[in-house]
Amino acid sequence: MPYSHKHPNPRVIVVGAGIGGLMMGLLLGKAGITYQIFERSSNVKALGALMSINANILPVFEQLGLLEEVQNISLRNHGSSLFNRNMKEIGKVTIPNYQELTGYDFLVFSRPELYDILLRQIPKDRISFNKRILSMRKSAGGTRIYCSDNSIYEGDIVIGADGAYSSVRQNMHKMMKADEGVAPVQDVKDMAVPYMCMVGTTGPMDTVKYPQLLDPLNHLHHVVGTDIHSWTVITIPKNRFCWSVMVQVKNQAEAKEQRFRNSEWGPEANNSLIDEVKDFPITFGGTLGDVIEATPKDRISKVMLEEKLFETWHYRNVVLIGDANCLYDLKDLSPESLTAAFEDYKSQRYKEAKKQVAYSKLNARVSSGQTFVEKIVRHLVLNFIPTSVKARQFSKAAAYR
Ligand SMILES: Cc1cc2nc3c(=O)[nH]c(=O)nc-3n(C[C@H](O)[C@H](O)[C@H](O)COP(=O)(O)OP(=O)(O)OC[C@H]3O[C@@H](n4cnc5c(N)ncnc54)[C@H](O)[C@@H]3O)c2cc1C
Ligand SMILES: *[C@@H]1O[C@H](CO)[C@@H](O)[C@H](O)[C@H]1NC(C)=O
Ligand SMILES: *[C@@H]1O[C@H](CO)[C@@H](O)[C@H](O)[C@H]1NC(C)=O
Repeated sequence: MPYSHKHPNPRVIVVGAGIGGLMMGLLLGKAGITYQIFERSSNVKALGALMSINANILPVFEQLGLLEEVQNISLRNHGSSLFNRNMKEIGKVTIPNYQELTGYDFLVFSRPELYDILLRQIPKDRISFNKRILSMRKSAGGTRIYCSDNSIYEGDIVIGADGAYSSVRQNMHKMMKADEGVAPVQDVKDMAVPYMCMVGTTGPMDTVKYPQLLDPLNHLHHVVGTDIHSWTVITIPKNRFCWSVMVQVKNQAEAKEQRFRNSEWGPEANNSLIDEVKDFPITFGGTLGDVIEATPKDRISKVMLEEKLFETWHYRNVVLIGDANCLYDLKDLSPESLTAAFEDYKSQRYKEAKKQVAYSKLNARVSSGQTFVEKIVRHLVLNFIPTSVKARQFSKAAAYR
């Protein structure tokens, strides 16, 4: 749809070509808005493992005509099972009639494959690689971004889609501090890093040894293993497994230091962690070592799982992630119009984001927590919530599209 000439056509800079940045670019393109994505990496790394999407976001893929492609890389999930370290099933979370309730499947897949689908939709010349954004400054014609290779670009709107340690966010705080003497107190505080994680996707496996790989329904098995480790192995199409090992981080100071060493998701396949976990059994038979062995070494990544809800989502013409619809409705590029558009975006999303962060925390505690209280919570959640209540929760959660 061409952008109506009555509207301004802002030059939009998107920082970061992760899933967030690519999706943003894709939607801006559909709205006929000029954009350029700047990504610090030299190329796209096929890293990551299990991911799932459901009725909350599948309508977007459907509207973009990408639903079938996403279905093709996915298996449908009808629930997950929790096991203890002796491979005894201690509980099941089933998703009753998810399709009937929501109109969509609950899909699981390997992250790099979704990433590829999005990347294919973006014209090659819309992404500039090797562009690490260092700083950002107001200019007469908008805002300039300064990259590590000394190049400078100017845009009317800057969208930060550059991940948990967003440089755009930090620069936005600097601008606030320069203008008003303060940056948002909660937002500049360090993030909690309750878990560290190692993930990977195997190549094709032997279906005689692992017959569950042939099942068109996804198997998602989570093992609450040792005092600090839990691990998840799931089946995905083409006879492969996605796996992840979560390590509860007891020492936050050490986590912070590690975070700096591994500040990019990279093939930092950590041999010491692999050694630590390789003999743990998995429910499909054999050990974690077997699936790690079947994963190309340069496709194993280790990361910190940060947890935080930020309060400030935009300032002047800078916005974090953002919403293409709100930009499509812009009357002009005045500071008032931009602020109104960004406020509109935040007011639509903030409440849901807050709920998701809380849900994600609870979910992590139920599936991985090892304190006495967490064990009790797990027992209650798994065994005493009636199916009808669970179904209601799923429909409620799925209502936000
Ligand atoms: C390689 C990788 C593997 C992942 N694997 C999984 C997984 O298996 N399962 C799962 O559930 N989640 C995974 N995640 C996390 C998941 O993708 C994110 O939590 C979620 O998708 C948010 O994505 P995002 O686009 O907001 O940020 P990110 O995915 O973090 O992307 C941010 C992008 O911005 C770039 N960037 C950062 N700083 C700058 C800068 N200063 N200048 C320019 N570019 C910059 C980064 O290189 C990156 O490409 C992974 C993330 C990455 C990057
Ligand atoms: C999905 O897979 C089917 C079966 O392999 C194929 O016929 C179809 O073209 C695929 N669709 C897309 C959009 O890739
Ligand atoms: C693996 O972890 C150890 C100890 O934490 C560290 O010394 C080493 O540098 C790490 N290696 C890689 C490749 O990340």
